[in-house]
Amino acid sequence: MRLLFSCQPSIANLDEFRVLQEAQQTEQKLRGGYYTPNDLAAFCSAWVLESGASEIMEPSCGDGAFIEAIMGAKRPANLAFKAFEICPEEAAKARSRAQRLTFGAAKAEVTEGDFLEWAIRQLLKNCPVTDAVVGNPPFIRYQYLPPVFQQRSEQVFEILRLPFTKHTNAWVPFVLASIALLKPSGRLAMVIPSEIVHVMHAAPLRSFLTRQCDRIAILDPTEIWFTDTLQGAVILLAEKAEVPTRPKGRLTILPVSGRDFAQQPAEALLRTATWQSAGAIDGKWTQAVLSVRARAFGRNPPTTGHSPACAGGGCGRGHRHRGEQVFSRQR
Ligand SMILES: C[S@@+](CC[C@H](N)C(=O)[O-])C[C@H]1O[C@@H](n2cnc3c(N)ncnc32)[C@H](O)[C@@H]1O
Repeated sequence: MRLLFSCQPSIANLDEFRVLQEAQQTEQKLRGGYYTPNDLAAFCSAWVLESGASEIMEPSCGDGAFIEAIMGAKRPANLAFKAFEICPEEAAKARSRAQRLTFGAAKAEVTEGDFLEWAIRQLLKNCPVTDAVVGNPPFIRYQYLPPVFQQRSEQVFEILRLPFTKHTNAWVPFVLASIALLKPSGRLAMVIPSEIVHVMHAAPLRSFLTRQCDRIAILDPTEIWFTDTLQGAVILLAEKAEVPTRPKGRLTILPVSGRDFAQQPAEALLRTATWQSAGAIDGKWTQAVLSVRARAFGRNPPTTGHSPACAGGGCGRGHRHRGEQVFSRQR
């Protein structure tokens, strides 16, 4: 635990190098330091920029994959990007990336420190601060967080009047605070653990999303994007309601295979998606996957050929069904 958030020890010989490597892997795990590939960062960034966002926030920017994607994309000339990063070395890398890509009236500011500490101050003012949020929050079990981070995680639930459990994980309060700080019609595009769909401790987040957002889309890949972590990840695209007290709450879970999907605008995928009323899906969102699958089978029984729900995977004919990964995670 001593290693948490202290990034760069020095090195003298080969043995030390091995010890250092192990320490760095542990350190990486303990601060949830697994970075987003460029194509996924660009895909998420394009979706939020498309909404006309001129204030964008990133809660945990690492070395700046999303800064590069946003600042390097077609963006408003006066864009203001606000990022946080707890690890000093990574914050410095992100800052120099931001400086390289900032020109004209645009601003990109990287704050070294805990996102939740800042977010809690904003939440207490009860005033949304940003048009959009992008990123990939840290995945760290609550029990491995230092006490001050545990307290801040719990405080986010408290402020939002949501039930808290010690089974939570760092990414949950990050997403909760991000959604709460979005302005009406604001967009959030984040790479998050696939467990959002089904784990019990994420139930308050699922219901918060359905109460706050008009559209919630989960892009669920066949592959594991972060092989080092063995943790399944998905992309969450959420659009906050224009009138936060009256969200229309629609949910879709879209299976994706390979990375070609990231070459097209997210909106093109969302246009053809099957949406369901999120309010009608209580508890686990695996029900949403189930009903997509059931509907598809109803239209096109598997004995007569491939179901439309078949995303190029395995339906007994050598490929996978939509949502199959989610089902296997449930076993
Ligand atoms: C999964 S990485 C993602 C980095 C970057 N957003 C990306 O997508 O490439 C999570 C990052 O969160 C940082 N982090 C962990 N706890 C944090 C906190 N409380 N506040 C801000 N950053 C934090 C870690 O140091 C790490 O760089």
